[in-house]
Amino acid sequence: MATAITYEGKAKILTPTEQPGILRVLFKDDATAFNAQKRGQIQGKGAMNCTISSHLFQFLAEQGIANHFLAQPAANVMAVRALQMFALEVVVRNRAAGSLCRETGLPLGLELMPPLVEFYYKNDGLGDPLLTPERLRLLNLATPEEVQILGDAARQVNEHLRQFFAECGILLIDFKLEFGRDDHGAVILADEISPDTCRLWLADEADPVRRVLDKDRFRHDLGAVESAYQLVLERVLRQ
Ligand code: TMP
Repeated sequence: MATAITYEGKAKILTPTEQPGILRVLFKDDATAFNAQKRGQIQGKGAMNCTISSHLFQFLAEQGIANHFLAQPAANVMAVRALQMFALEVVVRNRAAGSLCRETGLPLGLELMPPLVEFYYKNDGLGDPLLTPERLRLLNLATPEEVQILGDAARQVNEHLRQFFAECGILLIDFKLEFGRDDHGAVILADEISPDTCRLWLADEADPVRRVLDKDRFRHDLGAVESAYQLVLERVLRQ
């Protein structure tokens, strides 16, 4: 009998396991951008993103950041705690890039101090819109206390990851996090942390194309996507 799929996203498939409360996450090589208007494959991405994410989740757990990671039973498979997910994407930006530049005119790479923390509505049909605090309250996607916890957790994750990547010779430009609630109502970091969900620039490379180590290579057809992900993998595993 085929295993029932609990959830299939653009880059991952979640299925139940025999153990209640534990899900199996299969990381796919499929890549999408611009709300799936652009589709393709990045060879080996599933295994690379799963391994990078597993490593970063274990690092964050050591730093006291609760997260859903349990084990990596295969290169492209992660075992995680089942959570009730918030329909939110929490984005942290250390430098201006992507939609922030497009929508505000700020120059690419401008340092943002303190880092900008933003909430987006995770809703493909609506194109994951940026939420104002008022709309976040209106939609009731998290309680005001949880919104505070999510923002604080995202800032803490940023401090740990920024330092971690700096030691890899990589600048953490921005990234997206997703969180869920456990049975006790605790807020737990979930999803993935990978070159699909982060912007990562080589610290010692000034060239605006050569420095890019993340999904922007796929989004903007910069080429050498696999080797950029591979470089991130090697540097992360070296730490
Ligand atoms: P943005 O500049 O397009 O708003 O993206 C900010 C960060 O969030 C960037 O690191 C890429 C990541 N991201 C996702 O992980 N998933 C998404 O659907 C989008 C739009 C961005």
